[in-house]
Amino acid sequence: MSEKQEIDPATVAAVDPEALEETAMRAVREATSTEDLDRVRVEYLGRKSQLKLALREVRDRNTGMQLNKFREALEMAISVRQEELRQLELDRRLAEERVDVTIPGTPVRRGHLHLITQIRREFEDIFLGLGYTVVDGREVETTHYNFDALNFPLVHPTRSPLHTLFLDEHTVLRTETSPSQIRTMETQEPPVYIVSPGRCYRRDTPDATHTPIFHQVEGLAVDEGITLADLEGTLDYLLRELFGQERRSQFVTHYFPFTEPSIEALVSCHICDGSGCPVCRHSGWIEVGGAGMVDPNVLEFVGYDAERYTGFAFGWGLERIAVLRHGIPDLRELWRNDPRLLRQF
Ligand code: PHE
Repeated sequence: MSEKQEIDPATVAAVDPEALEETAMRAVREATSTEDLDRVRVEYLGRKSQLKLALREVRDRNTGMQLNKFREALEMAISVRQEELRQLELDRRLAEERVDVTIPGTPVRRGHLHLITQIRREFEDIFLGLGYTVVDGREVETTHYNFDALNFPLVHPTRSPLHTLFLDEHTVLRTETSPSQIRTMETQEPPVYIVSPGRCYRRDTPDATHTPIFHQVEGLAVDEGITLADLEGTLDYLLRELFGQERRSQFVTHYFPFTEPSIEALVSCHICDGSGCPVCRHSGWIEVGGAGMVDPNVLEFVGYDAERYTGFAFGWGLERIAVLRHGIPDLRELWRNDPRLLRQF
C-alpha cells in the first residue's frame, strides 16, 4: 500500500498573497541596478520562491487565480523596471565614458636625426648649392688608395699598424676620406667638383677629443685656373654657413702629403670672438680642418694633365664641427647616444 503524500497545509497557509505582492513590488521599485533586479526576480519568481511553492501546492481555483495574477503583475513590473534601469545605466555609462575630443592628447615625442647626420646633410646641401655633387667612398680601402696614391712617403707614421687598423697587409679601414679623391679622379675627367662624406677609422684611444671612428667630409675641386684664393673663399663661405655669418676665418700653413701648399682653416673663437680665452687657448682662433692645393704628383698619378689643371681639396671632421658649434665638452658624447643629450640638437 502506497503512502499518500500529505500536503502540509501550513505551507500554503503561510503565504499571504497580498502581503507577498506588496513586499515583492516594493523590492522591484527599490532595485537600483539590473543586477539588483535580477536578484529580486530570483527571490520572488524563482523555482524556490514562495510564490512558486504556493502555486505548486494550490488546491482551490480562487487562490490559484489570485496567485497567477500576482505572478503576471510581478513579471510585468520587473520588465518595466528592467527597462528603466537599463536606460539609466546606459545614460550613466554614456556620461562616464564620453570622449572629450577637445582634451589635448598625450604628447608623443618625435625622434629626429642624429646631430652628425644633420651636419653631414647641411654640409652636403651647402655644396650642392655651389654646384658640387655628392659621391660615396669606401670604408674598407687598399693601402694603395689610402696611402700610395695620396703621396704618403713609405715611412709615414700613419702607415704603421699602431695608427691604422689593418684588415690584412694591403687592406685597411680608411683613415680619412681622401681616397675618395683618387677614386673620383680615376673615373672622371676635369672639371671635378665633389664632396664625399663618410666614416673614418684610426687606432686612437678614445678621449674627449678622439674616437676611433669618426666622420669626415672630403671636398675636391679640379678645373683650369683654380687657385689658393678659390680654396680660401670656398672655406670662408663654408665656415660662415656652418658656424654663423659673424664668424671670421683665417688660414695657416700645414702639411699633408697630398696637398701643396697645405693649410689649416681656423675660425674665430665663438666664446671670446677673437680676443683670447681658455677655449681657444688664448689665441682667439680655433682649428677646424685641413685643406690644400692638390699636389701635382697626385694629379699626375690619376693621369690628369697637371700643367693644365689645378685643384684644391679639404677634409673636415664632422664630430669636430659638432663639438665646436654646440660647445659639447666631450666628443664621446656623440657616440653614447644618450637621448637626453641628442634631444638637445
Ligand atoms: N685627410 C686630411 C686629414 O684627415 C685632411 C685633408 C683633406 C687635408 C684634403 C687636405 C686635403 O687630416
